[in-house]
Amino acid sequence: MSFRNIATRSQLATRAFSATRAYSSGSTALKERFAELLPGWQSEVKDLKSKYGETVIGEVTLNQAYGGMRGIKGLVWEGSVLDPYEGIRFRGRTIPEIQKVLPKVEGGEEPLPEALFWLLLTGEVPSFEQTKSLSEDLAARSKLPKHVEDLLDHCPATLHPMAQFSIGINALESESEFAKAYANGVGKKEYWKYTYEDSINLLAKLPTIAAKIYRNVFKDGKVAPVDGSVDYARNFATQLGFGSNKEFIELMRLYLCIHSDHEGGNVSAHTTHLVGSALSSPYLSLAAGMNGLAGPLHGRANQEVLEWLVSMKKELKGDFSKEKIEKYLWKTLNSGRVIPGYGHAVLRKTDPRYMAQRQFALKHMKDYDMFKLVSTIYEVAPKVLKEQGKTKNPWPNVDSHSGILLQYYGLTEQSFYTVLFGVARAFGVLPALIIDRGLGFPLERPKSFSTEKYKELVESLAKK
Ligand SMILES: CC(C)(COP(=O)(O)OP(=O)(O)OC[C@H]1O[C@@H](n2cnc3c(N)ncnc32)[C@H](O)[C@@H]1OP(=O)(O)O)[C@@H](O)C(=O)NCCC(=O)NCCS
Repeated sequence: MSFRNIATRSQLATRAFSATRAYSSGSTALKERFAELLPGWQSEVKDLKSKYGETVIGEVTLNQAYGGMRGIKGLVWEGSVLDPYEGIRFRGRTIPEIQKVLPKVEGGEEPLPEALFWLLLTGEVPSFEQTKSLSEDLAARSKLPKHVEDLLDHCPATLHPMAQFSIGINALESESEFAKAYANGVGKKEYWKYTYEDSINLLAKLPTIAAKIYRNVFKDGKVAPVDGSVDYARNFATQLGFGSNKEFIELMRLYLCIHSDHEGGNVSAHTTHLVGSALSSPYLSLAAGMNGLAGPLHGRANQEVLEWLVSMKKELKGDFSKEKIEKYLWKTLNSGRVIPGYGHAVLRKTDPRYMAQRQFALKHMKDYDMFKLVSTIYEVAPKVLKEQGKTKNPWPNVDSHSGILLQYYGLTEQSFYTVLFGVARAFGVLPALIIDRGLGFPLERPKSFSTEKYKELVESLAKK
């Protein structure tokens, strides 16, 4: 399953799509291609602002100010847009579409995350050759500095893997080309180039950090070397210790793609962007985003789901009937807890990322008891949540499925799951940081009021 001779399928897929979208041509390297595209985007944004800069694009209610700013338009995020009913589109493409058009390895069926990175950064589907050159570039930059290895080796096994992940990323700041260039007074127009270098270096090193944490906490502490001739997900699977399982490698490809980007307002994306807007380096910005991903209402929900499923399985003693599951769901709700893996701040239907994982499970593990349990919960939970009447979205999200896929292949340590999500999320938020610097976005600084000030404001508005 190496990279050799896989061009035919991806070229065919590329041709099938080229009627509607632009494609990268030849073997242009990603940084050069971005540099070619950037001036066009800069003038597009400039024109848009000069024509419509004062157009009102929405209104804000007091409830939104107190309600986590749901639905307020105020961010720019080029990589993806999330429709409440349709789900995510990466640069205009749904998950089934990216599964179809992005390059794959020979014999593989899942898209390569490095190809998705290219798509998110440029808006173009890369050729197989372009993807391969990016994979090689990432592999060549994967080595960790010694102080980062030492630091991770000294973390206690009791420290949550996400806290270790954040420490590792922060410690890599020593490598920041952006920070060095800034200190040397580089001009604003050049910022994106250093942000690009940091982002590629970071993306390249994340699997080694993640694998080191996994192997230190749960295994023998040894991490396999990166092979420059294979793709990113295969190297990552090997470093984790699952490289001999072709299905697990395919799962990693799919997993990294579908967890990458979910527009700009979610906690990890927004935090990375916000911290980046202060011109903190990509290392510090991503680490901040990862601290947000570690929260149970965000990425850590995948760990919570697994813990909840394991307790449910224990209590149900093999009886996965709808009646028993329904009772268990009510028990969870009545104890004041949420049903983990259900609900969403934006989505109002089943998450297509859930469906992509369900398709994968149907293909590879349809008789697995934990998959059957997750499937039956899917039949019961929406009805229960509707009956409870609190959540605006009674349907499952991405986190409700991912854990059992990993369990099936033997990656059973659920406290590590959010780290996998974190590696994937870097594929979405790092292109956004490069674009932020390319388009010269300013420091982010929305307005806040105290309750007293809001009172004054709404009372004076009510009189008008
Ligand atoms: C994702 C999540 C944080 C979105 O929150 P939100 O935008 O505030 O959601 P809603 O507007 O639908 O919330 C309204 C009410 O329904 C509740 N609710 C939302 N999802 C729920 C769930 N899965 N189970 C039980 N109650 C839920 C909320 O806690 C809130 O209750 P409150 O009025 O007592 O505070 C929420 O759905 C949740 O906690 N889900 C479980 C955790 C999870 O899966 N997170 C991963 C998301 S990808």
